[in-house]
Amino acid sequence: MAVIAGDPCAMVIFGASGDLTKRKLLPALHNLGEQGQLPHAFAVVGVARSAMSDEEFRRKVELDVREHATGPVNDAVLERLKNCAHYLSGDIRDPATYTALEDLLARLERAHGTGGNAFFYLATAPELFTEIVGRLGSAGLVRQEGGRWRRVVIEKPFGTDLESARALNRRLREVLDERQIYRIDHYLGKETVQNILVFRFANGIFEPIWNRRYVDHVQITVAETLGVEQRGDYYDRTGALRDMVPNHIAQLVTLTAMEPPISFDADAVRDEQTKILKAIQPPLCEDVERCAVRGQYGPGTLATGESVPGYRQEPNVRPDSPTETFVALKLAIDDWRWADVPFYVRTGKRLPARVTEIAIQFRRPPLLLFRDTPVDYLHANRLVLHIQPNEGITLRFGAKVPGAAMKLGPVNMDFEYADYFGAPSSTGYEKLLYDCIVGDATLFQRADMVEAGWGVVQPILDVWGSGPPRDFPNYAAGTWGPAAADALLTRDGRRWREIEG
Ligand code: BG6
Repeated sequence: MAVIAGDPCAMVIFGASGDLTKRKLLPALHNLGEQGQLPHAFAVVGVARSAMSDEEFRRKVELDVREHATGPVNDAVLERLKNCAHYLSGDIRDPATYTALEDLLARLERAHGTGGNAFFYLATAPELFTEIVGRLGSAGLVRQEGGRWRRVVIEKPFGTDLESARALNRRLREVLDERQIYRIDHYLGKETVQNILVFRFANGIFEPIWNRRYVDHVQITVAETLGVEQRGDYYDRTGALRDMVPNHIAQLVTLTAMEPPISFDADAVRDEQTKILKAIQPPLCEDVERCAVRGQYGPGTLATGESVPGYRQEPNVRPDSPTETFVALKLAIDDWRWADVPFYVRTGKRLPARVTEIAIQFRRPPLLLFRDTPVDYLHANRLVLHIQPNEGITLRFGAKVPGAAMKLGPVNMDFEYADYFGAPSSTGYEKLLYDCIVGDATLFQRADMVEAGWGVVQPILDVWGSGPPRDFPNYAAGTWGPAAADALLTRDGRRWREIEG
């Protein structure tokens, strides 16, 4: 497929001195340049409070790209990136910053031929989102006139609950048209997440069995070995449920469960995803205890043998913190495809392995045929989509163990992306930045999707917010979460798939 060349444009990064810019955005721009996917006329503007000249910013661009490159650095591309990089030092709350930005964008239009097109990337603390958008609006910087486009990219977290997400959407819409808003969820930048749709809809053999008639249940695991690192302050106010479920996990659930869209048009895909979020049955207050489990890690030992402190001993975490670092949920999608097929999801910090995967567990076949053989149990088929770190797909099926007696053993058919396509070398932001440039919002969250995602977790937030957990910490670092997470499945006669650490 031919790559569409994006319009000439400028990318303005608010929060240019932050971690995201250095670790992801600048290396991603380098990779895009290397793949020939940056527009022929392009400029990057870093905006932050610290004083820095263009020269100093260009040196930072070089250092950051070299330090966080995902592969060998292409010197010519890096040179080009430096040459089109500019810096604006200013207070985000000061209208003068926006006047200066307007002048700078006009200069770049003349110097680099950006055509007046620009996208503003808000890589700042979320408290600043509405302030920045409001000021961009007052300064006339988001007006689309004379054929130029203006877009705003918003990072997560998008609100802290349903009400605040609605309020944020309202504020954004006072200034911007929905089509100008690009709400990022970096999970959608992952190749294997995008591949879920290709796997399901570009193959003829899976879709006919992708439903309640053949699928027993679905398990989605997003496990991390890291603790909260230096993010104690943010995380302690947030917790695993808000941090992961209405966004990343909602993406995995919707892409797994949605109906085929009629095209890859942004709204066609997002309509189907939103329908799934709306079909997820919000638990009644009295059911929350039975379908939602929260956990917090105490001290423990990782697979590497390293002893690590508990969550409450981490920097910037309250010593009696009620914040959950683990959550497991049983979700019910009440539509014709999935009624009575539970989706079990779990995510947590300081678990034994860093793994993101979706496991589709099929129904068990009848045992009758094997009645007079030593076989007394048939394993169900299972299809696992491995999202990270080892990207691939595994199908488990039963095979006869060679020998005179009829014995069965479960075996795996494995596909690994790296074997076919080489090891991926990307930050995960390339596709998302490229899509902002070409104006394709398919992989970005629409206002109603974000709200529907919060709608799924809001009843749980309400119940959990009304009383602190009494048993925290309830799992040791380096283990698979609290016992209650196992009970969530054993109650239904099922168990979590064992994932190797
Ligand atoms: C972020 C969360 O959005 O996603 C982090 O805030 C989490 O807490 C991260 O660690 C996980 O992303 P990935 O790409 O490492 O799976």
